[in-house]
Amino acid sequence: MTDNDALEKKTPGACPGEHHPRVRSFVIRAGRMTAAQQRALQELSPRYALDVSAGQKLDLQAAFGRIAPLVVEIGFGMGKSFVQMAAADPDRNYLGIEVHPPGVGACMMLIDEQGLSNVRVVRHDAFEVLTQSLGPDSIDVLQIFFPDPWPKARHHKRRLINPQFVDLIRPLIRQGGQVRLATDWQEYAEEMLAIFNAAPGFINTAPDGGFVPRPEWRPLTKFEARGERLGHGVWDLVFRRED
Ligand SMILES: C[S@@+](CC[C@H](N)C(=O)[O-])C[C@H]1O[C@@H](n2cnc3c(N)ncnc32)[C@H](O)[C@@H]1O
Repeated sequence: MTDNDALEKKTPGACPGEHHPRVRSFVIRAGRMTAAQQRALQELSPRYALDVSAGQKLDLQAAFGRIAPLVVEIGFGMGKSFVQMAAADPDRNYLGIEVHPPGVGACMMLIDEQGLSNVRVVRHDAFEVLTQSLGPDSIDVLQIFFPDPWPKARHHKRRLINPQFVDLIRPLIRQGGQVRLATDWQEYAEEMLAIFNAAPGFINTAPDGGFVPRPEWRPLTKFEARGERLGHGVWDLVFRRED
């Protein structure tokens, strides 16, 4: 039995209370949290974490103290590459969504150390944040780097990117905005490509309708570095929102 199998048994995947149970794209790992990450969750959340528990639309102007184009990253992991991108792009607001508590703590430590005012985090299931907390045309760029590949066929239903997800994000991204994706799992890369190429309202920015060369704006992520050590390839995709 793999770790994921064991966790799946302990943590049912279906979302409780939903009329049509949706299978979650994550399992919360009982991983160790450092004392510093724990402290960050307690002390820095009031400053950098947004509360979406009420299920209402986020007031982004109040949250960031300004109106600016919004980059949303789903699943930032420990947050290093996400914060690096935000630091290099001060004219945009960056909203990171992650369910892994040590990662959220680690990310807020980085935001605080670097004194960044354009980054906020949400510790919640991105599917629910997109459904309930963000309004139409609110997103300039939506990025998902190295989503959990769920390689076994019986786990494919857990993959975050599927046609329903594309229908969910379409109205949230402004005309001319972008979806940026990367994965080190070839079969998932091909699936993402087929889904977005077939989806109304998204144009593949690759001239040949395939993958794009590694973008210079995307820093190496932690998960990507691990894949590199294992000899994995990497596939990048960039789509433009356009009706
Ligand atoms: C394979 S890791 C990649 C992390 C990071 N992007 C990187 O490349 O190092 C995928 C991350 O997505 C997060 N995740 C998966 N589904 C999510 C969801 N529905 N909402 C928020 N985070 C999610 C997981 O907790 C995990 O940290």
